[in-house]
Amino acid sequence: MCGIVGYVGPRQATPILMEGLARLEYRGYDSAGIAILGDDGTISVQKRAGKLSNLAGALGEHMLAGTQGIGHTRWATHGQPNDTNAHPHQDCRGDIALVHNGIIENYQELRDELRAQGHTFTSETDTEVLAHLIERATADGTKLADAVFHILPKLRGAYALVIMSRREPGVLVGARSNIPLIAGLGDGENYFASDITALLRQTRRMVTLHDGELAVVTASSLRIIAPDGTDVQRDAITVDWDAEMAEKGGYPHFLLKEMLEQPDAAQRALLGRIIATPAGGLAPKLPEFEAWAATGALPKITRVVLLACGTSYYASLIARAMIERWARLPVEPWIASEFRYADPVIGPDCLVVAITQSGETADTIAAIKLAKAAGVPIIGITNTVGSALTREVDATLFMQAGPEISVPATKTFVASVMVLTLLALSLAAARGTQPADERTALLQQVETLPTRMETILAVAEQPDNHIMAVARGLAGCQSAMFIGRGVGYAVAREGALKLKEVSYIHAEGYPAGELKHGPITLLDQHTPLVAIAIQSHTYEKVISNIQEVRARHARVIAVATEGDRLIAEHAEEVFFIPAVDELLAPTLAVIPLQLLAYYTAVERGCDIDQPRNLAKSVTVE
Ligand code: G6P
Repeated sequence: MCGIVGYVGPRQATPILMEGLARLEYRGYDSAGIAILGDDGTISVQKRAGKLSNLAGALGEHMLAGTQGIGHTRWATHGQPNDTNAHPHQDCRGDIALVHNGIIENYQELRDELRAQGHTFTSETDTEVLAHLIERATADGTKLADAVFHILPKLRGAYALVIMSRREPGVLVGARSNIPLIAGLGDGENYFASDITALLRQTRRMVTLHDGELAVVTASSLRIIAPDGTDVQRDAITVDWDAEMAEKGGYPHFLLKEMLEQPDAAQRALLGRIIATPAGGLAPKLPEFEAWAATGALPKITRVVLLACGTSYYASLIARAMIERWARLPVEPWIASEFRYADPVIGPDCLVVAITQSGETADTIAAIKLAKAAGVPIIGITNTVGSALTREVDATLFMQAGPEISVPATKTFVASVMVLTLLALSLAAARGTQPADERTALLQQVETLPTRMETILAVAEQPDNHIMAVARGLAGCQSAMFIGRGVGYAVAREGALKLKEVSYIHAEGYPAGELKHGPITLLDQHTPLVAIAIQSHTYEKVISNIQEVRARHARVIAVATEGDRLIAEHAEEVFFIPAVDELLAPTLAVIPLQLLAYYTAVERGCDIDQPRNLAKSVTVE
């Protein structure tokens, strides 16, 4: 989510940090900041909300002087994206400065404890507790690295940290847990960074830290310490990357990079949100939903209205099936631009769930305001802290997917479906409509989804893979039809949207049973059919629909469940996904279709990250 860079050596640190941050801005641009340890032994901090250019403007011609420093570009999770919440953060006395990527889940209890001991906090971030914890641990003269080593076990969540203390000039300390951090090795100078890309203009010799490790860097040394306190010896790797590709982390397109980040995005969306129950089962944990439910509003709810646009709307179609099946509430998914002018019948017996990764889509915000004026409680799901949505709703659930740069949404789709799954299970639990053991079994499967996504995405590592070969055939077509039933229909809609967005091939997503009522006239040998034929209670019906199409000579590309030996008889090409509960399958089934759209667009030479006429965040009607 955030970018980190650190430097210690003989050169001025500010230009090196600023150059590194420029390479990292795709990770987040809510704010940026640097801290420099000057020759006078004091730490100076400069930080600004907004893009890196704001920080560069604030620094002006007066670069902070000093040969050691840390820098950060932020994608906000806790606290508004303003100057105060920008990193680096400091302790009460300004002796320590640190930058952090990740989320400290138990920050509130740590903050309360430190406050009770007299520490003063200046920001709303989870990160600031770390500076005060280190201040407390070094108060008796304990060395910085030892102090950090001792506070790490107190932290819950995920982090990459780089820290310096004015009392130990020439030393940077880094630590990581579930978030990447690397050390870069120079000649008489050394670095830390969240990504290899930040350092490519300085060095190509890097050492990757492993989870739980702590590293101490000086201008001439790197020491890595394992969680058990023993020293770790690890050789540096020499990175053979082109600095020009750096902004995309080495990938030719943000879209490919973000598709490959989907397992990580799904994991982040689930982070801390599935807990063990005293009875030995699993339960969803969405504190924001629980706080809203505790107001007593839930028993009055008789139906759910889902509001969204684009890809978020297709996520809502999946949520409809989950909420109806598990929580036994009727659900109406609405395209927000339709809802706002439809004079909808709504009132306090409705619960609105609004989904928007940007949190800024004008139609969705207007629809939310309409519902709010009618006294409807609203839960918002977004990827963007501080967005317009968060100011309008009763409770916000963050996707926590990290920044998504490419206009076609991929990892935010997966993350929103993860959050919606937990919300549907939470509604079912609160309403008592689902046996606890069924919920546990589903959550056990939910926890495996990120790994299963990795399995599917492994195909992208192969230089000339099966999906590419299918895309080469598709690239010459004018039109394609996508079909599915139930949640498979939602996947068909999203698959068709991805194809048309990035490759400009006309594509329609249709309920499989509706083909015969019109669209089947469009099918011939030049118009392929993409069928979502995953294992479900309607599997045989989808197969019948495929047969109707094959009789018209259309070529069939199927997404099917591993172990389905019969599907090859019905389709020319098959993309397999692992077997899971049918309502949990969409985030797996969508991945081959995203890759298909991507490779087709590459084949056709399209502008993949910024398709014509589209915008990432649509703030007009
Ligand atoms: C734009 C984007 C789509 C996105 C839609 C809704 O059209 O190009 O990728 O699905 O907006 O965006 P939201 O931020 O509300 O999820």
